[in-house]
Amino acid sequence: MAQSSATWLVTGGNRGLGLEFVQDLLRSSSNTVITTARNPDKASTLQDLRSKLPQQLHILQLDVTDELSIQRFAKEAEGILGERGLDYLLNNAGAMSSDTPLTFKAEDFLNTFKTNVLGPALVLQALHPALEKGHRKVVVNVSSRLGSISSTDKQFRHYYTTYSACKAALNMFTVKAACEKPDLIVYALSPGHNRTDMGGSTAPLDPKETIPILLKFIIGSTLEHSGKSWDYWGDKIQEFPW
Ligand SMILES: NC(=O)c1ccc[n+]([C@@H]2O[C@H](COP(=O)([O-])OP(=O)(O)OC[C@H]3O[C@@H](n4cnc5c(N)ncnc54)[C@H](OP(=O)(O)O)[C@@H]3O)[C@@H](O)[C@H]2O)c1
Repeated sequence: MAQSSATWLVTGGNRGLGLEFVQDLLRSSSNTVITTARNPDKASTLQDLRSKLPQQLHILQLDVTDELSIQRFAKEAEGILGERGLDYLLNNAGAMSSDTPLTFKAEDFLNTFKTNVLGPALVLQALHPALEKGHRKVVVNVSSRLGSISSTDKQFRHYYTTYSACKAALNMFTVKAACEKPDLIVYALSPGHNRTDMGGSTAPLDPKETIPILLKFIIGSTLEHSGKSWDYWGDKIQEFPW
């Protein structure tokens, strides 16, 4: 993918959509990519990529449910980025739960919220100084159609309760961040239903085809996109109701 020099940070790059984002970004030698894994030593695909592209790819340890881990990671990321700053933050790491209002367990609920809402919120807080130094100032909170209250339909009925509530909360956080920081381009982006560990093997979309489309959108995004929710569906990305 042809693009001008840019710095990227992708959380959850060990597998799924995160790994695909990283692999696609590394096709352009002008991109510097920082990504994260909960256990970098076991992230074998990322380690292979790093051994081939040591100047371009950096792998940092991050568990978004752990505040100390976030603080340590942000310091390391700032050390790599220096005065160049961060152009694009992709808050991609996330976790699924397939519970219902009457079956969810309190501990699972809290952990899923920490991963999907508090985690990306704290990552944005921690990386805000680096984003302010960046040339693009883009923050993408990877969300889901399931987080849209106004378009909740009968398809999933009462399932995926905690996950849906998390993405709705992440959407609200996105609006608030866009309101507080009008110089940042902050939006929610739903990637569509893709074949990953989370999406399952029968999902209609192939991440190899989805990610280039999402990246083209992200690279071209402007302040006009900020504070809104965008959704990849039926071959195009369009604004989606909250
Ligand atoms: N796939 C879909 O159809 C779909 C649809 C809508 C939205 N999304 C969203 O897209 C994003 C990526 O989903 P995916 O399908 O790629 O999921 P996935 O294949 O399950 O991968 C999840 C990624 O998140 C990381 N992660 C999970 N918990 C974490 C934590 N506590 N701290 C740091 N990293 C953590 C995982 O790291 P480890 O490898 O260390 O576990 C992994 O890299 C998520 O935000 C998801 O909600 C996906």
